[in-house]
Amino acid sequence: MNILVVGGGGREHAIIWKLAQSPRAKKIYCAPGNGGIAHLAECVDIGATDIDSILSFAKNAHVDLVVIGPDDPLALGLADACEAAGIRAFGPVKAAARLEWSKSYAKDLMRKYGIPTAGYQVFENAADAIAAIASADARTPFVVKTDGLALGKGVVVTEDRAEAEAAVRSIMLDKIYGDSGARIVLEEYLTGPEMTVLAFTDGHTIKPMPCSQDHKRAFDGDQGPNTGGMGAFAPSPIYTEAVARECWERIYAPTLGMMRAEGIRYRGILYFGLMLTEGGVKVIEYNARFGDPETQVVLPLLKSDLLEIIDAVIDERLDSVEPEWESGFAACVIAASGGYPGPYKTGYEVSIARSLDPDICPTDGGVMVFHAGTREEGGRLVTSGGRVLGVTALGGNLGDALERAYGGILHVSFNEMRYRKDIGGYRQA
Ligand code: AMP
Ligand code: GLY
Repeated sequence: MNILVVGGGGREHAIIWKLAQSPRAKKIYCAPGNGGIAHLAECVDIGATDIDSILSFAKNAHVDLVVIGPDDPLALGLADACEAAGIRAFGPVKAAARLEWSKSYAKDLMRKYGIPTAGYQVFENAADAIAAIASADARTPFVVKTDGLALGKGVVVTEDRAEAEAAVRSIMLDKIYGDSGARIVLEEYLTGPEMTVLAFTDGHTIKPMPCSQDHKRAFDGDQGPNTGGMGAFAPSPIYTEAVARECWERIYAPTLGMMRAEGIRYRGILYFGLMLTEGGVKVIEYNARFGDPETQVVLPLLKSDLLEIIDAVIDERLDSVEPEWESGFAACVIAASGGYPGPYKTGYEVSIARSLDPDICPTDGGVMVFHAGTREEGGRLVTSGGRVLGVTALGGNLGDALERAYGGILHVSFNEMRYRKDIGGYRQA
């Protein structure tokens, strides 16, 4: 089978690493890919949002399956375009991916179907939003969300009214996220630990993967600005059997019911961003894709052939497969460019010790390096993004996995590299 994976981050590297293990994967292409993916797949120089070029490449290269990694191509209807061209696509069609690309749509559905989530109001003009902020309790923080996609930066948790008002102005009036901010969601502020549950679904059956936890803030102790994610681990110890049961009863099954009742044909990955609040588990967001870096810890735990599961999802017979998972743990530490998520320099040479095979076969210690922001330049590997590498390790318990991942990160380097030292609550001995 010829496969084209769309995207070029650590998530796509992990997906390709897993797909490459399938005996049925013949040729794997990646658009656009990165310096690490190039060891496993043929990278083609097409951007992930260039729908027309992706489609013509897929036709010319006799691609049998397109696996869509990021949110933008889903929102642009890449899955619909593939289907129309008779090419199998893994990822929801545009109307289904709306659960991610319109936060107000997702919130309205959750309210309609009684799925637990933060209270909210939707605004289509800045004056109304500012008036609502002025009349709210000044002591509670405000959560201002851009309705549409905003490179993962469209959520502002503010301390006071002035900050909330400033966020509304910059999103709605200064249009810092363009048309994505024509509408905003003002949300009740919730507290509690956050968890990610990625699930395979074909619209009839839903199969959650092991629960993971991501670290979104840039600095240790959950300080600093939000990033795409600085590290992750799975399975999460806070996702107890009781929590899982609650999620099934109040979130997963009702979400499946909601999609069926609304006539949403959802086939792909459904990402549940969850918060364990005092009032129970609540949905912070739905995404229509694998999370990053969560995928870098979840897929290494998958024992089954990912391609078999993908086929079952597309053919709407997910009930016929039972994904098997390793009993151990996985941890991932992201090596980022200095300055990220703000401005940072690129083009620095990346060095990865030979013991951490750049072909990312797990080595003796079970350490692998997924590339996020690297590219090959004149035979050298250089940095090309904010998140550069994800060093992932497996272990019999969480402590072992973390120990190995932190051992591994000592063997990768580039100028101005930085990483969090407290992923999974890790404390160096
Ligand atoms: P989202 O993109 O919706 O996942 O939001 C990004 C991050 O903002 C989440 O991971 C939370 O840490 C935070 N956040 C979002 N919504 C809320 C909320 N209602 N209350 C508190 N924090 C929130
Ligand atoms: N790690 C968060 C996300 O993928 O949305």
